[in-house]
Amino acid sequence: MQVDVLLGLQWGDEGKGKIVDFLAPNYSVIARFQGGPNAGHTLEFNGNKHVLHQIPSGIFRENKENIIGNGVVLDPVNFMKEVEDIYNKFGIDLKDCLIISNKAQLISPIHKLLDKLLEDSKGDKKIGSTLKGIGPTYQDKIGRQGLRVGDVLSKFFINKYKDQKSTHDYFLKGNYPSDFIEKENLFFKAVDFLKEFNITDTEYVVNNHIKKNNKVLAEGAQGTLLDIDFGSYPFVTSSNTTTAGACVGLGVSPKKIGNVFGIFKAYCTRVGAGPFPTELFDQVGKNIGINGNEFGSTTGRSRRCGWLDLPALKYSVMLNGVTDLYMMKSDVLSDFKTVNICIGYKYKGKDIDYFPTLIESEDIIPIYKSFNGWSSNINNCRNYNNLDQEFKDYINFIQDNLGVPIKLISLGPDREATILVN
Ligand code: GDP
Ligand code: IMO
Ligand code: MG
Repeated sequence: MQVDVLLGLQWGDEGKGKIVDFLAPNYSVIARFQGGPNAGHTLEFNGNKHVLHQIPSGIFRENKENIIGNGVVLDPVNFMKEVEDIYNKFGIDLKDCLIISNKAQLISPIHKLLDKLLEDSKGDKKIGSTLKGIGPTYQDKIGRQGLRVGDVLSKFFINKYKDQKSTHDYFLKGNYPSDFIEKENLFFKAVDFLKEFNITDTEYVVNNHIKKNNKVLAEGAQGTLLDIDFGSYPFVTSSNTTTAGACVGLGVSPKKIGNVFGIFKAYCTRVGAGPFPTELFDQVGKNIGINGNEFGSTTGRSRRCGWLDLPALKYSVMLNGVTDLYMMKSDVLSDFKTVNICIGYKYKGKDIDYFPTLIESEDIIPIYKSFNGWSSNINNCRNYNNLDQEFKDYINFIQDNLGVPIKLISLGPDREATILVN
């Protein structure tokens, strides 16, 4: 048995949470492998709407083991709040269904402070970070001075925390905000809360499941175009959001990777700064944002909107070895007279059909192919055969060009608003 991976092919917020929750009944284990509370994964079912940040999206399905893998950066304060909210709202005790890697890194109050100071120092070159401490925590991991979840079980945890703090104090020179002690106290309270969870070598847990032929689904956060290596650096997040990240972030051999579900919106969005070739600044872009309710699940910021970018998608399919494409939010474009797909660019005066990641937005002009729009009749459709022909033309063009079949179509935020394509 192998590990299937579900990940975003664009700049995040493709609808990963909805689909992991939809697929979870087919799996024994759901495992997050990178990112942290910068993620916001929205689930809607039975009239409930819930946004998960650090908790895997399998928790609302019974008898699943949910894992927070070693590749994740975990904020104990945010974690405590998420766990308590889920208990209060749904009566689910995550101690029964969640296992945390002892090698996941801890986000401390210093990381969140540094995230803000670093962003502030950048003036108009800000990345648009969610300011959850992601970058500084991964910096400490790579700099070999991180605190890991397993450290909370050590009687020397406070010393380890002080050691890490002193390395930053060397630069901060004691300049902490007035509420910093309060934040540290809350952090230590949350660390005590975290100790009550099952903290272990999750790489053994995952590999034992594989041996027993239990199905594992790895849940990505962010999106391929935000990958630390392949995204539009430096306007990226600080982890590998691609399939390879699932191997490192869970301790799974590349030989054990099975299907890779690549999830994308029928258009594009991006939250935060950085190049976005097909971004629309006109009323059409605004309408996509309104119809798609394109506001960040974590920060509430408006998402920038634009047409589907096929060369970018092709790049993501290549990097991840996508076996199945899942197209989300098709309903958002319903009743548009014309829908465009970017099929190449004019880049520095030349026509190209690949996605250059080292771009300045002003150098790149998308080349579009136009399609006739489809009707809002598709929004309530649950059978592929009953979809409008215009919509099928749109889908066929995408899958023919990417050489990978579209196996799932999402037509609304609810779990049920989903069509599996045979
Ligand atoms: P994630 O980060 O990839 O899990 O995605 P987010 O939850 O941040 O953003 C996706 C948003 O679109 C959420 O508000 C979902 O409820 C919503 N959504 C997901 N699929 C669909 C869909 O097919 N149609 C519409 N209209 N909304 C969707
Ligand atoms: P999900 O999992 C969309 C963006 C931020 C910023 C950049 C760096 O919900 O798809 P960071 O907080 O990592 O320092 O931010 O990455 N970003 C996301 N955009 N969805 C996300 O997660 C994101 N996580 C980070 O807006 O531009
Ligand atoms: Mg999101």
